Amino acid sequence: MILLDASESALTEVPEHLLQRSRDRRRAMGLVVDDGDAAASAAPAAAAATSAVATAPAIKAPVPIPAAAPPAPPEPDSPWVSAAKSRKKIPYWVMPVLLFLPIWLIMYVGTLEDVAREEGVLYEGSVVYTESGCSNCHGAAGAGGTGPAFAGGAVIETFADAEAQMAWVVHGSQGYTDAGFDSYGDNGKAIGDYNGSAMPAFGADLTTEELIAVVFYERIELGGYEEDLPLAEKVWDMLEHGELEDLPEHFAEGPDGDFTGQGEIAAALAAARAELAEAEETAAE
Ligand code: HEC
Repeated sequence: MILLDASESALTEVPEHLLQRSRDRRRAMGLVVDDGDAAASAAPAAAAATSAVATAPAIKAPVPIPAAAPPAPPEPDSPWVSAAKSRKKIPYWVMPVLLFLPIWLIMYVGTLEDVAREEGVLYEGSVVYTESGCSNCHGAAGAGGTGPAFAGGAVIETFADAEAQMAWVVHGSQGYTDAGFDSYGDNGKAIGDYNGSAMPAFGADLTTEELIAVVFYERIELGGYEEDLPLAEKVWDMLEHGELEDLPEHFAEGPDGDFTGQGEIAAALAAARAELAEAEETAAE
């Protein structure tokens, strides 16, 4: 009893009669069996008392609280709201990046296109096609006009090989007529039959590079004949590396030059074709 009295009186000055009542009550509840053994009974009694105090409200409280709790969470967030709350927040810098991404993409693709079109045989060909006036008669997109169309492969039907087309551009309608021809191309097109107009001779105006570039431009870019691209690029590469002889003499020959075999033009392209075939063979091995 000494222990209990001491701790109780130390904490609160509880009047002795109340303590006695509490002790009686605990005894009545069977919590304290032997009043004599103070050390033994007081501790469990105190423990029991506190646990009784602790459990008594604990048993009662959970009943109303959980009962009130589930309906209580006043407005459960709708799925999208809770999703929005739980989802990771997007960093602020992402917004400007996302905004500029399409613009950057357009600019990037634009530069790619520029690179492709600012060099190479087809780019050079497009420049010659406009600057030498081919576009005036044959149309900017090769759809035809004063001269026949190249689009849709029409020019490939006339000239199966680039060599023959180059000879035609060098000599023109008049050159062919003067040499005794009344037709040109693989299908024997009658000269002067198209609108009664003539194709001028460009041999004196164009360099070897320009002739080669513009003819491949007409065939590949305007005529859609992709099959000629490897040859065009090979010839261009050889020209740039000085592996292909310039053909000024052929041009100078004018209407008296080699029409049927296309002379030096054919020889030059033959070298390119041979190199291509060789490269294909080694690639196939
Ligand atoms: C003054 C107008 C004119 C100009 C400029 C001109 N051409 Fe022609 N071109 C013609 C005409 C007309 C024909 C058809 C000739 C004929 O029927 O005798 C023709 C035919 C052609 C053909 C044959 C097409 C076919 O399928 O029959 C080619 C290839 C060609 N020209 C290339 C060129 C090139 C390359 C240039 C520029 C370097 C050029 N032409 C500039 C008027 C022109």
